[in-house]
Formats: sequence, C-alpha cells, structure tokens
Amino acid sequence: MASSTNQYIKPATAARNSDGNLSIGGCDLVSLADKYGTPLYVLDEKTIRSICKDYKKAFEKYPKVRMMYASKALCTGAVASILANEGFGFDTVSAGEIYTVYKAGADMSKVLFNGNNKSYDELSLALELGVGRFSVDNFLELALLNQIAQANNKTADILLRITPGIECHTHEYIQTGHLDSKFGFDLTQVDEAIDLILNEYKNLKLHGLHAHIGSQIFETGIYPDEIEILAKEISRIDKKYGLTLDEINIGGGLGVKYTQDDFPPSVYEVADLIVTKLYDVIEKYNIPEPFVFLEPGRSIISTAGVTLYTLGSSKQVPHGTKYHAIDGGMADNPRPSMYQAKYYAEIANAKETANSEMVTIAGRFCESGDILIRNIVLPEINEGDILCVYNTGAYNYSMASNYNRVQKPAMVLVNDSDAEVIIKRETLDDLVAHDIIPDRLKL
Ligand code: LLP
Repeated sequence: MASSTNQYIKPATAARNSDGNLSIGGCDLVSLADKYGTPLYVLDEKTIRSICKDYKKAFEKYPKVRMMYASKALCTGAVASILANEGFGFDTVSAGEIYTVYKAGADMSKVLFNGNNKSYDELSLALELGVGRFSVDNFLELALLNQIAQANNKTADILLRITPGIECHTHEYIQTGHLDSKFGFDLTQVDEAIDLILNEYKNLKLHGLHAHIGSQIFETGIYPDEIEILAKEISRIDKKYGLTLDEINIGGGLGVKYTQDDFPPSVYEVADLIVTKLYDVIEKYNIPEPFVFLEPGRSIISTAGVTLYTLGSSKQVPHGTKYHAIDGGMADNPRPSMYQAKYYAEIANAKETANSEMVTIAGRFCESGDILIRNIVLPEINEGDILCVYNTGAYNYSMASNYNRVQKPAMVLVNDSDAEVIIKRETLDDLVAHDIIPDRLKL
C-alpha cells in the first residue's frame, strides 16, 4: 500500500543543508528565525499540496467524492487559497472562518457550515455569502435557518448532522460520534426533523446526512462502520418518505504522526476501505451512488507545519529533570497541556557536539503545566539554539491565545527557497488595540 504524507513526522522537504542547519522548502530555518524572529510558524506549501494529491488520487475509484478542508485546523487566507486551488471546498464552523475563505476568493458553493450552536447572525451571513450547504445540528437551528431563508426569499440547502453512535479510540475531548455527544441529532430524532422539513420548513431543502466520529483516528474500520449507518438511514428515509438523499458527509479525523510511536494509516488504505464499502452499501441497500464528502483538517495541514523557538534559560533540578525553556509554549501550542499531546523536535542549527542529553522543553508561560515536550533526547543545548518542533500545522495557530498578554507569532509559507509572511506577528499595540479605558479612570 502506498504511503501518504500524513504518515511522516517531518514536512516532505525537510533536510539538513550544507551548513548543517535544518531547512524546509529550501529555506534555512536558522535564517528564517533570524529574519522573522521566534516563535515562528513555518508552513511548507509542497507538503500541503502533496497530501491533497494523495487524497485526490486515493479516491479516483469513486468519482463522486468531494473534498472539503476542515478549516478549523488552520484558517488563514493563504491556506484557503492553496486549498481552493487544489479543488477543495471548506468545512467551516463560524462567521470568521466563512469570511476568511470568502475573502480568499473560495467558491462559496463548495463551503459547508457546521456547528452545534450557530447564531442568527452567522446563519444570515452564511446565507448571504452563498454558502453551499448547512449541516443542521439541532431543532432550534432548523427553525432559525428556515426563518432566515424565508425572510430573504431563499432556500437553504442542508444536511442533517447525526450522531452515529460510534466510539473511536482517541482522546475523549476529541471524540464526537458517540451517542452521548453534544453534536447532531440522535438517530431516534431524525424522523421528527424530516417531518418538520417536509411539512413546515418550506425554505429548507434536505440533500443528505452528515456525521463525524472524532479526530486523530488511527482505526480504519470506523469509516466503513459509519458508512453502513449512513447508508442504512438513507435507504430507510427513502422507503418511508420517498425522499432520495444523494449526499453523505463522513467528516474528517484521519490521524498524523506526531512521534515515532504513532502509526497513522495511509490515505490510500482508508480510501480503499471507504470505496469498497460504498459500492457494497449501494448494492446492499439499492440506493443511488451518493456524492461523498470528506472533511479532513489535521491530516491536510499538520505535517506541513513546524514551529521554531529560541532556547533560553535552563534549570537542572538536583537529581531530577533538566528543563530548557523556549520563548513560546502553551499560548502558541495549547495541545500538550489540553490533550497531553506529544511532539518531536530537533535543534535546527548545526551542532558541533556529539553529546546528547535527556531534557524537558518548558514553555515561557506562567503555569507549571506549560511543558511542550517531556523527556526528549537532544544534542547538548546552548542558550540561543533554535528548536524546531514538528507537526504543528494543525490546531496550533488556530487555537493560539494571547495568554500572559504575549503577541501571537508570525507564520511564513516556504516554497522553492522562498519564504513569504502569511500571518504578521502581533505587535504590542495590537494587544492593546481593543482596550478601552473609561475617561473617569484615565491617569
Ligand atoms: N469535521 C467535523 C465536523 C469536525 O468536528 C472536525 C474536527 C473535522 C471535520 C476535522 O477533523 P480532523 O480531520 O482535523 O481530525 N483541537 C483538537 C481537534 C478538534 C477536532 C474538532 N473537530 C486537537 O487539537 O486535537
């Protein structure tokens, strides 16, 4: 089985150059750190395009597959442009994500709006900007969306988000398909929703069903299980209502390789299982070939990204841990503190020494839990060394905060030995830009 880009820890273009420094996209990481400062997110365009090609090639045997990038993993104008250029649509979950892809020039008919509590304003904006599909999550949203569509003399094209009742083995915070999930209609509530759509909500048009099981998934069997449930439900709805639904959205979730201990499956393997299962259920339930939508986020963008930090202070606990602190941490990458996520890193600059040490990389934020990597073997570290942490493209910048009032880092896109800033580093003035000091308090 061919391997795919999500099965590698490092971006496709990562190498040591003749100076002994790490480079990505032909750009020396030490020079990038020098020029743009640290912490710095670096994103490799070739790696993004390579996984997009993997997905497209893997699903060639089922031409009705449509790819949507789950923009929650990393949503910026430049990333949206690359994905749109690769022919992807977008799974979005907020006005902010919708507006970002819209401003990037995405074809809005290929945009899906997801979420368990979309506001009136967000639904209105989505309808106004021509978002192609709404994955309606609950009864309130059905009523609200119908009301907004009616007031604007429009029809909203929808899917119903259902909870398939499948548990996957991932961190409990990122499981979503189990029965007790906050997302979507329980299967026992689907008929009530369809009755409302057919009889009352005349400005909604139902096209299909949507489910998503979880994230950072390594089990391949859950996708066929999910397809079985969705296809069975589609056939049941067809029989009961004479309503032919020809779209199923099976969500995202494919895992990536953060460390040597992770073995995510190949996109090609997952695609084969999905396609085999699709043809199987089409025959078994005698349903027309549905359009199948996939919403990968992490597997598209994670491997392409690294974060550069400068190493600073250190502390040897007597008979205990050797800490080395970096100039970032939980505000630019909250995943270790939120999900006990593990990362792999290397020193980016050339090191003369053959000595190595077991160290713990500590963040600079004021919490004991701000530890980026526990117990990693690195060459003996000196103050000023540049640390390159791999696989930070997904859910790092998109979950970054200004904790401790620290500016969010910049992001550069590297390709063919060029680096371009795609997100500017925040300034101190950016940090206070939204502050208002009432006149009576002014000093
Ligand atoms: N579709 C839906 C409906 C989703 O809820 C998600 C992710 C995706 C697609 C994309 O899943 P992916 O392919 O990226 O696994 N912040 C967590 C991950 C939360 C995922 C939320 N939903 C983390 O850093 O691990």
